[in-house]
Amino acid sequence: MKRRRVIYEGKAKTLYEGTEPGTLVQYFKDDATAGNGAKKDTIEGKGVLNNRISEYLMTQLAGIGVPTHFVRRLNMREQLIKEVEIIPLEVVVRNVAAGSMSKRLGIEEGTPLPRSIIEYYYKNDGLNDPWVSEEHITAFGWASPQDLDDIVNLTIRVNDFLSGLFLGAGIKLVDFKLEFGRLWENDYMRIVLADEISPDNCRLWDATTGNKLDKDRFRRDMGGVVEAYSEVARRLGIMPESVQGENKGPVLVQ
Ligand code: TMP
Repeated sequence: MKRRRVIYEGKAKTLYEGTEPGTLVQYFKDDATAGNGAKKDTIEGKGVLNNRISEYLMTQLAGIGVPTHFVRRLNMREQLIKEVEIIPLEVVVRNVAAGSMSKRLGIEEGTPLPRSIIEYYYKNDGLNDPWVSEEHITAFGWASPQDLDDIVNLTIRVNDFLSGLFLGAGIKLVDFKLEFGRLWENDYMRIVLADEISPDNCRLWDATTGNKLDKDRFRRDMGGVVEAYSEVARRLGIMPESVQGENKGPVLVQ
């Protein structure tokens, strides 16, 4: 196999130099981590599913005019993306109380929020991705007020659209994390959606039973991670059967 230059090695993905100028190849690994790397495992088939699910969601979002870094899926584990300057923020949207919000504010998991809430975390593993405000973001220059304006507008659109899309598949979009980047085209810059959208960075609950179909199954040692991710893909209509393991499948709809 031809060697490629690694641009960035993350916990669940690797970025390689792209096949066209201004592009990168995003490779989805089977590795899973939680608690900033404190808990680690390999979940066979996760990378294939996340690649496909993220491709689908990014493509649907592009269809309503949300700019993204996604270009096209290359194979089972890789997608071509536009090279962007990543804004060092994790933008979390919450529709229902869960996870760190429930712990921090003492709100029972599953409590619907009076309105959707956007939170920001500074992307810095050494500091454990601390919670920050718009004041910190603009004061320290991680994003300009104009950048933040664009980020908020895009985030609200993504939340509205994905909430409806998942509900149509019998899934409640409890919360999720987005990342954004600056895409430079000549002298013109625009903010685009980057990274991935998958059950690794969303909380997805079955709309009827409340069954968890996301990475909390890994974080909370519940088991059935690949089965849950497969179920999400199946309900989105992008995988006809839930199959475990790469040798046997998964069978993906092209
Ligand atoms: P939290 O409740 O742990 O703050 O997570 C909120 C949402 O953001 C949840 O859907 C998981 C996602 N998330 C990530 O994708 N990466 C992260 O590093 C964190 C902290 C959360």
